[in-house]
Amino acid sequence: MTDRSFSGQATEIGRRGFMTGLGALSLAPGAAFAQAGALGKTGATPAATPAGLNADMAAYFAREEPYFAELAKEFTLDPNVVYFMAAQKGSMPKAVLARMKEGLDKVAADPFPVYVEPSAKIREGIAKAYGTTTDQIAITRNTTDALTLAAMGIDWKAGDEILMSPLEHPTGITIALRLAARYGVVIKQWGIPVGPNVTADEVVAALEKRIVPGKTKVVFFSSPLWPTGMRLPEAKISAAAQRAGAVTIVDGAHYNGMIDPRLDETGIDFFALCGHKWQCGPGGTGLLYVRNKPNAANGSALPKFHLVRTQSRDVPFDGSRGGFDIGQALSMYGFPESADWRALGDAVAMWDRIGRARIETWHMTLGGYFLDRLADAFGDDAILRPRKDPALQSGIVGFNPFPKAEQRMDEKLNVDFRSRMLREYGFRISGLGVGRNGLTRSPDPEAQSFPVGSIPNRDPDTLAPKPMAHPQRVNACLWNTRQQIDNFVAATKDLTAKMTA
Ligand SMILES: Cc1ncc(COP(=O)(O)O)c(C=O)c1O
Repeated sequence: MTDRSFSGQATEIGRRGFMTGLGALSLAPGAAFAQAGALGKTGATPAATPAGLNADMAAYFAREEPYFAELAKEFTLDPNVVYFMAAQKGSMPKAVLARMKEGLDKVAADPFPVYVEPSAKIREGIAKAYGTTTDQIAITRNTTDALTLAAMGIDWKAGDEILMSPLEHPTGITIALRLAARYGVVIKQWGIPVGPNVTADEVVAALEKRIVPGKTKVVFFSSPLWPTGMRLPEAKISAAAQRAGAVTIVDGAHYNGMIDPRLDETGIDFFALCGHKWQCGPGGTGLLYVRNKPNAANGSALPKFHLVRTQSRDVPFDGSRGGFDIGQALSMYGFPESADWRALGDAVAMWDRIGRARIETWHMTLGGYFLDRLADAFGDDAILRPRKDPALQSGIVGFNPFPKAEQRMDEKLNVDFRSRMLREYGFRISGLGVGRNGLTRSPDPEAQSFPVGSIPNRDPDTLAPKPMAHPQRVNACLWNTRQQIDNFVAATKDLTAKMTA
């Protein structure tokens, strides 16, 4: 559908647009709408298109919006709901859905061969698309499965430390708590710097305050972070971890499919990826990248790694690593469905045809547009992630539109906001932070400092509890438009006014 050179150009313009465009966009006065109930459901509301886009961004949207409007027709999303939630689950494109069905029919007609296609072939295509080699890619059931395989495979000893961001998803939190209970692993945290002007270097500096060479065994973080949408600088964090002799495990549930993954270039040791979110493959699909040889971004010796789920008996049983195909070994587990991994391979190939740089630029630019519109309407304080450093952007925008601090922490108010947004306006969004049910939980005396549903962040300097607002989360997806975003912002204004009257 496109070629790489066009995609490359789009990336540059997109990134420049980001840097110069922030703050330059302003909402035209009179973003009126006729009837609140019609905003999302009919898509007919005449919210004004913001004036004053900088030239790069205006040219970008003029060129790319028609293309992505065509692409949106490949998805069978309910036309009565505006779906802003690839971060929850993506929608399979028609062609992928058809191949999945065809695969299931084939297996049902003749189950004996088990697989419609060998996993090695699929892994080869995905590895190439994701900037790595086949032996370093395993097919898993989802991100949770991949993270579990990675974390439970580390050669833990009692007292080893895992250093985690406080903004992890329940999946990562649960894994860490289990490591602590089972192996006596000590969980340490670092604080994520917040504010519109935060830079990648400040994020790394915050991490380096807490990393202890010889003690920190694993650095664990998500990128992008689920509650705020802030991307973390994976390669810089990997470099810092390497300097301290630590291994990196990344929860990349929102990484592939949204961002152009250049896995070997990150230097990360274990990167858990999702098939069914931004990559729009079938539910129950995911991937685990395992660095299986020294590379330019990470020449460290390979850590011991135990395979906790495999049928391969060729792999050493003592966790040692000796040049075997670890992706294959981790992908050999009984007879999982193969129609789904073949469909995942198709989704990955489709993203390649569109152009991964082109897709990343769309997510980043439309995400920037979303962020700017929300900031224009509700103020900088409403936005929960940095705005300036291009390295920290993503297609996820965490925000809270309520004007008062206590309203931003109010669990019931914020849950009601989301359900009314769907019921009355037809926009599907998500939200919630883990609050005191994060890594800090009773009987920890600090647990009470984290309101239910808030983001349980900590101060990067002191590690004192520094909870952030209950997050509302919206995504700039492949199928979304600026008009839908304008309508959503208008609906949010309407609803918050009603809820705070
Ligand atoms: C950061 C993060 N990690 C993990 C998961 C779980 O994803 P999966 O269904 O692929 O296991 C999610 C789901 O929303 C998530 O946001």
